[in-house]
Amino acid sequence: MLILGIETSCDDTGAAIYDTARGLLAHKLYSQVEIHRPHGGIVPELAARDHIQKLLPLINAVGEEAGVEPTRLDGVAYTSGPGLAGALLVGASVGRSLAFALDIPAVGVHHMEGHLLAPMLEDESPCFPFLALLVSGGHTLLVDVEAPGCYRIMGESLDDAVGEAFDKTAKLLGLGYPGGPEISAAATAGIPGRFHFPRPMTDRPGLDFSFSGLKTRVMETVRSREMDRQTVADIAHAFQDAAVDTLVIKTRRALRETGYEQFVVAGGVGANRLLREQLGALGEELGCSFFYPRPEFCTDNGAMIAYAGAMRVSCAPVQPGTGFEVRPRWSLEDLEPVPAGLWETCTRAD
Ligand code: KG4
Ligand code: ZN
Repeated sequence: MLILGIETSCDDTGAAIYDTARGLLAHKLYSQVEIHRPHGGIVPELAARDHIQKLLPLINAVGEEAGVEPTRLDGVAYTSGPGLAGALLVGASVGRSLAFALDIPAVGVHHMEGHLLAPMLEDESPCFPFLALLVSGGHTLLVDVEAPGCYRIMGESLDDAVGEAFDKTAKLLGLGYPGGPEISAAATAGIPGRFHFPRPMTDRPGLDFSFSGLKTRVMETVRSREMDRQTVADIAHAFQDAAVDTLVIKTRRALRETGYEQFVVAGGVGANRLLREQLGALGEELGCSFFYPRPEFCTDNGAMIAYAGAMRVSCAPVQPGTGFEVRPRWSLEDLEPVPAGLWETCTRAD
């Protein structure tokens, strides 16, 4: 089965073709970072308009790279939520129109299910059940992944997502957008121990997160002194340490609670080197196997949507006709479980 995947939930236009027999055939990404950079964050209207311009050429380009004519496609998967409504509508309308014209099924994919399954695109991939730490610009989730489509949220952020905290802290420090990679780069020159920030909500039981207080502490620190390059690097170092430490402490707790021996990290912040190193060390210490997607499949991409779509297109009832909806807010827990046995027949790790 050949599935076209389309991702337009935020500021990346992604397209990919996944073959359930041969794995990922092609994927391409167009990043809008340069468009949003002058604004220091994503401008939803600009995002939607740019998806309109870039999506069709990108779909043609993946088709060419994969050597797949549109008429050979068996289904189209597009991100239908959560995300920015206008941006989601672009992928949904293009995806459904294409499927209607080709007379093939179209399915709306949950963006975070895409992230959660992205480690399956790698040679080394987990088996169900496992624990997932999903860390992006909009979400910070610890998920008990019992089986395909069966997700229980064990912990989540009560305010800012961790990626958002990276982005806001970078802005406070006068660093560029997106903030995650900028903080991480600045932190390499930081002097360890010059600043120390709290590890929010780790001193009480539970698996929820809160990152807005951490950002406020950075703001107070920035306002209380003269900022020079070294100080920026030192604060970036201390912030990254605090954010990563917090994620690792809660992941350790969740692994203990579930007793799972496998865990994954996914989502944009999953590209963070320190986080990967520390989760790797945690895995070794606890005797658990740790899996993660390559960095380009941590951040938003079409490949994860094509992959999740290959699974969903076979089990979700396809909306008839040309009507469609997007779901800017949508919980992972509301997804339908995938019928037993279907997972194995519809997906194949690359
Ligand atoms: O998953 P993603 O591409 O988009 C959303 O679904 O939100 O995640 C984007 C987030 C941004 O907040 C960005 O700053 C963060 O991921 N990010 C990182 C790194 N690369 C991207 N955060 C920390 N370290 C990184 N290396
Ligand atoms: Zn994402």
